[in-house]
Amino acid sequence: MSNVIKWGILGLGKIAHKFASDLILVKDCELVAVASSNYDRAKVFANKFGVKTCHIGYDDLYKDKSVEIIYIASLNHNHYRHAIESMKHGKAILCEKPLAINHHQVEEMIKSAKKHKVFLMEALWTRFNPAFEQLLRWIDQGAIGKLRYINATFSFNGLDKDIDSRLFNPEKGGGSLLDIGIYPLFLALIIMGNPNTIKASAVLSDTGVDEQIGMLLTYDQSQAILYSSYTHHEDMRARICGEQGELYLNSRWHESPKLKLVKDGKSIDKTFDFIGKGYSYEILEANRCLRNKDTESSKWPLKNSLDLVNLMDKVRIQTGIIYPMD
Ligand SMILES: NC(=O)c1ccc[n+]([C@@H]2O[C@H](COP(=O)([O-])OP(=O)(O)OC[C@H]3O[C@@H](n4cnc5c(N)ncnc54)[C@H](OP(=O)(O)O)[C@@H]3O)[C@@H](O)[C@H]2O)c1
Repeated sequence: MSNVIKWGILGLGKIAHKFASDLILVKDCELVAVASSNYDRAKVFANKFGVKTCHIGYDDLYKDKSVEIIYIASLNHNHYRHAIESMKHGKAILCEKPLAINHHQVEEMIKSAKKHKVFLMEALWTRFNPAFEQLLRWIDQGAIGKLRYINATFSFNGLDKDIDSRLFNPEKGGGSLLDIGIYPLFLALIIMGNPNTIKASAVLSDTGVDEQIGMLLTYDQSQAILYSSYTHHEDMRARICGEQGELYLNSRWHESPKLKLVKDGKSIDKTFDFIGKGYSYEILEANRCLRNKDTESSKWPLKNSLDLVNLMDKVRIQTGIIYPMD
């Protein structure tokens, strides 16, 4: 493997454009190939980012020997299939969140990564954001004392989208939980771990997926109140409270370069520089793992992705969200 990590992208929609504009800013890696089911989409994308090889359909990307790692940016219901196919061809994978629709699919993906000895990571980019790394350091150092409470939300108004859109269509793994509710759940999981109990209640759309969902996680001596929705805009902040202080991630917290620590009547504000939009940090982490020949990231290991999908499965059982692939 050369020092320059060779990337490919599968599925050239909205997030793929944002990701590629960050990838070209990161040193020692190169976007060498892209693949789309649509000819025009592939050509436009390849021209925009100066990509040498543009595949129509995904099979040639799986087989492309110039590609070491594939970023999977297809819709939720296809992550499983596309990741499994890529791994069969020996490719490392950075896969958009949610890693897959349910626990069973994530387990199969992990088995495949182990069988083919390839790197696999869910693209939970917030984990690698420098402000978020500082937040985790402060918590570890006991800056806010014993943890007691997390409150985080993720919401936007997507009511103008039609029922066939990826937001509302169950066949595409729609619903706010898997798309954006995953972020508040991720926050609670990485900071407090698995809860003793989880209680959820949802407002379902006509298509049977959640358009609003509230979740209450209870631990031995702490709680997390989490929420996501497609029905209204909201100033998204995250609060993490301990017995001796509070931490606040500013709006929109999952991509915020800003962090506030409040303690003893004083507040410390930190603002971090970003490379691009912030996707660069998950790219750097994947590059680092590939150079080390690690098959998973120690910062967001596969066990965490499994725990996260388990929580989402539990929430779905309680709220009656069922996908055709279940
Ligand atoms: N990390 C983040 O900040 C973030 C933000 C938004 C979304 N996401 C995640 O990224 C993924 C893609 O979201 P997006 O907003 O980029 O979606 P999108 O633009 O609607 O579509 C992405 C790609 O999915 C394929 N696709 C679209 N409609 C399809 C259909 N009906 N059947 C099969 N494939 C279809 C197309 O691939 P081809 O180009 O090959 O045709 C399309 O380019 C989702 O899993 C989402 O959860 C992450």
